[in-house]
Amino acid sequence: MDTDYKYEPKNGLTRWLDSRLPLMRFTSEHVLQFPTPKNLNYFWTFGFILTMCLVTQIITGIILAMHYAPSTLLAFDSVEHIMRNVNYGWLIRYIHSNGASMFFLAVFIHMFRGLYYGSYKEPREVIWILGCIIYLLMIVTAFMGYVLPWGQMSFWGATVIINLVGTLPLIGESLTQMLLGGFAVDNPTLNRFFSLHYLLPFIIFGVVLLHIWALHVPGNNNPVGLSVQGKQDTVAFHPYYTVKDFFAYTVFLLLFCYFIFYNPNALGHADNYIEADAMVTPAHIVPEWYLLPFYAILRAVPDKLAGVLLMFGAIAVLFFLPWLDTAKVRSGRYRPIFRYFYVLFVIDCLILGYLGAQVPEGIYLFLSRVTTIYYFAFFLLVLPILGRIEKMKPMPIGISNSELSRDMVAAE
Ligand code: HEM
Repeated sequence: MDTDYKYEPKNGLTRWLDSRLPLMRFTSEHVLQFPTPKNLNYFWTFGFILTMCLVTQIITGIILAMHYAPSTLLAFDSVEHIMRNVNYGWLIRYIHSNGASMFFLAVFIHMFRGLYYGSYKEPREVIWILGCIIYLLMIVTAFMGYVLPWGQMSFWGATVIINLVGTLPLIGESLTQMLLGGFAVDNPTLNRFFSLHYLLPFIIFGVVLLHIWALHVPGNNNPVGLSVQGKQDTVAFHPYYTVKDFFAYTVFLLLFCYFIFYNPNALGHADNYIEADAMVTPAHIVPEWYLLPFYAILRAVPDKLAGVLLMFGAIAVLFFLPWLDTAKVRSGRYRPIFRYFYVLFVIDCLILGYLGAQVPEGIYLFLSRVTTIYYFAFFLLVLPILGRIEKMKPMPIGISNSELSRDMVAAE
C-alpha cells in the first residue's frame, strides 16, 4: 500500500542512522504512520493480541525450559518442581499452559473474523494462506507441548495420534518411526518433542513476520470490505489503533488472569496430574479443548485411514478458501444468505468441539457425522454455489460514508 507520508529525520543523529540503517524510517512509515482504514472494529484488534500471545508463550517457555528435564524419568517430577520450588514457577507454568488456550481462543476469533469479512479474498490470499500455515504450526506445537509434562494424557494422547499417522499410505510408517524414535512413545519421543516444541514457536514468529509483511502490501481489509479510495478513508496506525489495540489487549488479559489466578486447571485434564504409565490406559483419551473439533471429525467415520484423511482435509480445505468462495463482495454484511450459513457454520464448529469430548457412540456419533458433513459442505458446496446466486444487499459508495449509507438502507 502506498503511503503519502515520508519520514524526515529530525536531527543529525537520526539523519546519520537513516542513511546507514533506515530503522526509524521503517518503523515510522510501516507501523506508526501506516494508513489504516478508519472503520476497523474490535475484531481487528486480535492480530495484535495474537502477537502478544506468541511473545508471552516464547518468554514463559524459555523460562520453563531452564527448569524442565526432557527425560521420561524426570519430566513429570521436574514439572512438579517448577510448581513447588522454583520462584513463581507456578505462575510461569500457569501463564504458559493457559496461554496456549488463550492463544487458540484469539486465533479462532481472528479466523472467524476473516471468514465473515472476506479478508481472504483477492488481493489478500497470501495473508490468509500464511495464516493457515501458522495455524497448522500452532496445532503441532501445542500437541507436542502437551506431551512434555509426561502425564497420563500426554502419553496416551501422543500414542493415539502417532498411531494414526501410521495409517497414512506411503509416508505413514517412516513418519511414525521418525516421530517415535523407536517402537513406542518413550524417551526418544519426549526428547524430539521437546526439541521441536522449542523450535517451532520461532518458526511461527518468522511466518508471522511474512503474514504482516503480506498484509502491508494491500493494507487492511475492513468491515465494509471496500478498498481504501484515498486519504479520507484512513487514519495513522498510531495513536488511533495502538490505543485501541492496547485497550482490547487489557480486556483480554482480564479473562486470561481469571484463568491463571482463579481457575488454572479448568481447561486442562485431571489425568495429566498422574504420571504417564504405559500399563494403564485412561478411561477416555481426549485432547485439549482447542483440538476437539478435529478429534470429532477423526472419529466420525468408522475407518481409521478415512478418519485421518478427513481430519487433515478439514485443515487443508482452509488453504483453498480464497478460491472456493466465489462471491465478488467481501463483507458478510452485504450477503444476507451467507450470514445464515456462516452462523450455522460457527454453531457447527462449537458442536463439533463438544462432540470431540464425548464417547463416539449412539447420538454423539450420529451428530458428529452430521456436523462433519456440514463442515465440508460449507466450504465445498455452500461457498462456491452461493457466491454465484446470492443477491447482495445495497453497498455503500465508500468507507467514509459507509455508516451513512447503512442508515439510509435501514430507513428504506
Ligand atoms: C500467531 C498467529 C497470528 C498472528 C500473530 C497474526 C497477526 C496478524 C496481524 C497483526 C494482523 C493485522 C491486524 C488484524 O487484522 O487483526 C493480521 C491480519 C490477518 N490475519 Fe493474522 N495472525 C495470526 C494468525 C492468523 C491465522 C491462523 C489466519 C487464518 C488462517 C490469519 C489470517 C489473517 C488475515 C486474512 C488477515 C488480514 C485481515 C485484514 O486485512 O483485515 N491470521 N494477522
